[in-house]
Amino acid sequence: MATSFNFLLLLLLLLLAGSTAAFPNFFLSPSFYSYTCPQLQGIVRSTMKEVIRNDTTNIGAGLLRLFFHDCFAGGCDASVLLDDTPEFVGEKTAPPNRNSLRGFEVIDLIKKRVEAACPRTVSCADILALTARDSVALLHGPRWKVWLGRSDSMAVDQNAATFSLPGPGSNLPILLAMFAAKGFSARDMVALSGAHTLGRSHCSLYRDRIHGDSNIDPAFSAALRATCPLSAANATATAPFDRTPERFDNWYFKDLVAFRGLMKSDQALYGGGLVDPLVEIYSEDNEAFGRDFAEAMVKLGNLSPLFGFYREIRLNCRKVNA
Ligand code: HEM
Ligand SMILES: *[C@@H]1O[C@H](CO)[C@@H](O)[C@H](O)[C@H]1NC(C)=O
Ligand SMILES: *[C@@H]1O[C@H](CO)[C@@H](O)[C@H](O)[C@H]1NC(C)=O
Repeated sequence: MATSFNFLLLLLLLLLAGSTAAFPNFFLSPSFYSYTCPQLQGIVRSTMKEVIRNDTTNIGAGLLRLFFHDCFAGGCDASVLLDDTPEFVGEKTAPPNRNSLRGFEVIDLIKKRVEAACPRTVSCADILALTARDSVALLHGPRWKVWLGRSDSMAVDQNAATFSLPGPGSNLPILLAMFAAKGFSARDMVALSGAHTLGRSHCSLYRDRIHGDSNIDPAFSAALRATCPLSAANATATAPFDRTPERFDNWYFKDLVAFRGLMKSDQALYGGGLVDPLVEIYSEDNEAFGRDFAEAMVKLGNLSPLFGFYREIRLNCRKVNA
């Protein structure tokens, strides 16, 4: 009996393993915790309000990025939250994440409050999805319904983070291919890149662009070169991705059209390429951007979330349950 049950589960897993963001997810639902944890969304929202009210570091940007990095590397399963242990090395210290991902303490705080209200019920993966949505909404961006019911991973794969995340030097064909590999259209990719309306980047990641590229506003690059010299990457210098790094709006796209994209991968979206028309639309229409961003975020949240009749709910988001 148990064997055939496992066999069925395996079959189901195999059938769905190939499913990508382009397909609706049959295992998630916006009302997943309606009966088991009706307080959930209120707890996340009120904690996020408090966190953002107190914040001086633009932490909402960090939380949005956490969700992207979790989902893009092996699915939305909270694997990005696991600390390294002597037995395994996780995603946190993979090159795209090391010394750069942030917001883990906020997830810990929310998890603590959720566990107090609804013990062993809500996955860390679902908390990440809600936290990303609320960060955007509280920073004046669009809102969307979050589909819930994900399971937390029990293992990690550092390679998934190292090889599936795009880098700051990526060109347009690479960006299109990396997103297409996960089921995202060019439109989704451009809209999701608009997440860079929030937050900042480090000198080492935009240094080559401001010293070498010709598709850049000269006044913009000159100002940045003052604190980010070519000779030695200034470890403390950072720059905002757009003119309004604490507000979720379409300034990112307006800046791209003005050739003030910060990293090579940002400006790769505009200036003679296939997706110029999309960048232009978003630069002129904040609502169109918001709508497409919200839709693409739901797809991002569908990236092979772990599911099954058994759901793993980590008690501490940083550690696999004993
Ligand atoms: C399109 C390809 C993308 C590339 C190449 C890319 C790369 C990067 C890099 C290199 C940084 C700077 C990290 C640092 O200096 O600490 C960054 C920051 C950020 N990324 Fe992306 N990213 C991409 C797409 C996305 C997407 C799809 C999202 C979310 C949906 C996102 C959200 C963010 C946010 C919010 C920040 C600022 C983080 C902070 O202030 O802590 N990025 N990204
Ligand atoms: C926000 O600041 C208040 C007052 O300093 C403090 O009591 C509260 O714990 C802080 N909350 C968070 C989530 O940091
Ligand atoms: C490095 O960056 C910091 C912060 O922007 C700045 O104050 C400092 O002058 C920079 N140092 C150099 C050598 O450019």
